[in-house]
Amino acid sequence: MESKANVSESRPSTADVRIRSLDPLVPPAQLVSTYPLTDAAAATVVSGREQVEKVLAGEDDRLLVVVGPCSIHDLDGAREYASKLAALSHALSEGLLVVMRVYFEKPRTTVGWKGLINDPHLDDSQRRQHLFDGDLLVYHSTPVSKEFCNHAQQLIQEAFGNDPQNAQHTMKVEDFVSVAASLKSKFTNDDKTKKLIQNLLTEYSCDLEKTYFDVPRLRIVTSGGYLSAGVGYTYKAHRDTWYSSPPSQINWWMSVYPLKTEQSLEFYPEYWDTPIKNSSADFDYQEWCQTGRPQALKQISKDTRKHPLPLEEIDTKKGLRVVMSEAQPILFSAGNLHGTVPNSSGFTRFSFDFRTVNKDDLASNNGSPNIDCQSKGTTIDDFILASDFTPLQEI
Ligand SMILES: [Fe+2]
Repeated sequence: MESKANVSESRPSTADVRIRSLDPLVPPAQLVSTYPLTDAAAATVVSGREQVEKVLAGEDDRLLVVVGPCSIHDLDGAREYASKLAALSHALSEGLLVVMRVYFEKPRTTVGWKGLINDPHLDDSQRRQHLFDGDLLVYHSTPVSKEFCNHAQQLIQEAFGNDPQNAQHTMKVEDFVSVAASLKSKFTNDDKTKKLIQNLLTEYSCDLEKTYFDVPRLRIVTSGGYLSAGVGYTYKAHRDTWYSSPPSQINWWMSVYPLKTEQSLEFYPEYWDTPIKNSSADFDYQEWCQTGRPQALKQISKDTRKHPLPLEEIDTKKGLRVVMSEAQPILFSAGNLHGTVPNSSGFTRFSFDFRTVNKDDLASNNGSPNIDCQSKGTTIDDFILASDFTPLQEI
């Protein structure tokens, strides 16, 4: 009879198979005993409180002034601020009681950064580094992402009517292509689309003076092979770098309606650092803009354009499909291998995406590693500055 130990050794793991590591939280009591309050710090706190109480009680007629950097993320900056404010406080202490206000955590914040204690590193530069290291980041929807989604829904319904996810079932494919093409163009060129990208980047703490974004694109993936070419191309597994995107590019992607597993996009994390034979050497972005992209309208039953493709079998069994509600942004880098799941949900999938690059990353060549890309040309000239939309090539 097989022993219990042998069974567990031979059985493949079924739990937490996509978790790299777990760090248990330190209990508060342990933290307090590891970092006890010093006598000097305790005396400062008590003295500060007593002085404030006296002002509030009218026993001290100085003006109480609460100033501060609000929430902090830069400890050195906070210390410099405090030392300058302390000097000023002493100089003005006859008439003013100055109190520095600092938030280390923001428990009521539900959108964006929740403070140093909750999230010590994940500012935009740290987030980009996580992405350049291969992570996928899925966020909750936010007021701006919902507004963005509503904007897309409005344009989609103006084009396809009140039931756009089912429009493919009642339209001739040629008519569908014509409506889809003008809808995609409208979404890309609408001033509100650009403004919403700007607002979204602000909400995500991106520095608008250093962040550039490119052409926002609406994607339409029909179900059941109705249209999988041209304006409804079903992307095979690819890295965006194969399409001449810069390695420092971050992709921002959102579904317009709740996303089902049969109509999702799929990532292949196993290939993050594994090169794949591919045809990116035959792809030239400038050539694509002149010949490939303009042909999209004519590609209906088959896409004969020169897409960069894998030249070996991809193990899709380890693919990671994203299932999420509408307006939830997913971020990933240009080096992540991903593709469109052939839609078998019965409903057309509508999503939109845009890409960003940061000036510091471009200057320092920071980005996802290039392990198998040989494409020619670059998409960099498509990018505009998030603050005032100046083309990157003019800066
Ligand atoms: Fe892509």
